[in-house]
Amino acid sequence: MNASEIRPEQSVALLQELHILTRDGKLNQDSRRKLKQVYHLYQFIEPLLGGIMAERGDLVLVDHGAGKSYLGFILYDLFLKARDSGHMYGIETRAELVERSRELAQRLGFARMSFLNLSVGESIDSAQLPDRVDIVTALHACDTATDDAIRFALHKQARFIVLAPCCQAEVASVLRRHKSESLAQTALSEIWRHPIHTREFGSQITNVLRCLLLEAHGYQLSVTELVGWEHSIKNELIIARFTNAPRGNARERLGQILHELNLDDLKDRFLY
Ligand SMILES: C[S@@+](CC[C@H](N)C(=O)[O-])C[C@H]1O[C@@H](n2cnc3c(N)ncnc32)[C@H](O)[C@@H]1O
Repeated sequence: MNASEIRPEQSVALLQELHILTRDGKLNQDSRRKLKQVYHLYQFIEPLLGGIMAERGDLVLVDHGAGKSYLGFILYDLFLKARDSGHMYGIETRAELVERSRELAQRLGFARMSFLNLSVGESIDSAQLPDRVDIVTALHACDTATDDAIRFALHKQARFIVLAPCCQAEVASVLRRHKSESLAQTALSEIWRHPIHTREFGSQITNVLRCLLLEAHGYQLSVTELVGWEHSIKNELIIARFTNAPRGNARERLGQILHELNLDDLKDRFLY
C-alpha cells in the first residue's frame, strides 16, 4: 500500500488527524497496517450499509469499544459523508478517547457522529441511543465487552452484527476452576489440561458459544478470518445477519456444551 492508494473521496485532514498520513502527505508506516485492516473490514461492511440505506434511506451504526474510532471515522468518511442521512455512534469507556473523537468529528464537520462515554453494558438501556439500531460493530472490544455488544445487538434487534472478538478470559477461568472435576469426568478434558491450552480452548469455545447464541436468536452467520490481522491470533471475524429463523438445535446444543464442559456457571452469559 502506498499514498496513491488513499481514495480520492477520502479526507486528507482525517488521515492526518488519525496519524495515517504525515503532515507532508506521506503514509505513516506505523499506521499503514491499521488503514489496511480497516479497508479490509470496510469491504465487508459497505454492502451492508448500502443495502440498509437503499431500503430505508437511513441507518444507525453503533461501534462498541471504539477506542480512537478509526473504523467509525473511516466508515463515515467513505460512506456517510457523501449522504445526508445515517448516524454513527461510538461507545467507549475511556473519557479522553471519547473527548478526542468528539473534537475531531467537530473539526472535520462530521455532524452525524456521536461519541458516548459509556460501557457497552450501560449503553443497552441508555436513552442517549435510539431504539432502532441497524448495525452493531465491536472490534477487539476487550474481554466480555464483545458479549455485552451481542446483548446490546439482540436487545436492539440489529439487522447486522460485525464482531472481531478480543481475547476472553472468563470461560478459561471457569474451565480452570472445574478442571479436576472435568478430568475425572471426561477424556475430552485433555483438550484443556495444560494452562496454555486452557487459555486457547477457552477463547475458541467462547466464540463457538457466541455463534450458537446468535444462531439461537435467528441470525445467520459467516465466520471467517480477518485478513490483515494475520500477525495476531485474534483474527476471527463473525458477521451475523438477522433472518428471524433460529437454527433448530442451536439453543439445545449450547446448553449441552455448557453442561458437558462444566461451564454451567456461564448460563447467564450465553444462554438467554
Ligand atoms: C483493543 S481496543 C480496540 C479499539 C478499536 N475498536 C479498534 O479496533 O481499533 C478496545 C477498546 O475497548 C474499550 N473498552 C473495553 N471494555 C469496554 C467496555 N466494557 N465498554 C466500552 N468500551 C470498552 C477500551 O477502552 C479500548 O479503547
